[in-house]
Amino acid sequence: KSELIRNLENTIENIPDFPKPGIQFKDITPIFLKPKLYEDVIADLVNFSRGKVDAVCGIESRGYLFGIAVAVALEVPFVLIRKAGKLPPPFIGEKYDLEYGSAEIQMRTGQIKPGQRVLIHDDLLATGGTTQAAAQLVEKQGAKVVQFSFLIGLKDLRGEELLKKFNAEVYSILEY
Ligand code: PRP
Ligand code: MG
Repeated sequence: KSELIRNLENTIENIPDFPKPGIQFKDITPIFLKPKLYEDVIADLVNFSRGKVDAVCGIESRGYLFGIAVAVALEVPFVLIRKAGKLPPPFIGEKYDLEYGSAEIQMRTGQIKPGQRVLIHDDLLATGGTTQAAAQLVEKQGAKVVQFSFLIGLKDLRGEELLKKFNAEVYSILEY
């Protein structure tokens, strides 16, 4: 195991039974108490994507915490994917399933350009529903999702299966 992985494992807090019984919540907020660790996370994510993408999309809200720093370091545009009802028009939306009911994410039209190679970044890959919807938004704009990156992937939930159809590289720094 790398030093980065060990440091992250020692920093991310596991909160049992939050927000519901049976769920093991991974709290990433202690990472922001350690600026050097935050820098190392960004460097690792940048290393994965360097030279490979023309734009980064981050998913509200925890996908912004690292995604924008990665985009700035790569010197490429950062595009916000927001939860429904926050963005002014024109925008496009995509609905996705939650455990109970559904939700929608949206992106301003035209911020992603046709033909761009896009990285989609979020803090966590769980069921993959959120990330899949984000990738569909990007592809609707005529761009290509070439990479997905996460801090954490929850292997048992098989989110990676949902992402296979995009034929993109998938990277999680940590897997549980
Ligand atoms: C969490 C997490 C991912 C998503 C993963 O976000 O930050 O975005 O769920 O779940 P999935 O793979 O099953 O779709 P959440 O919707 O809780 O909102 P937040 O980022 O604003 O906290
Ligand atoms: Mg989120």
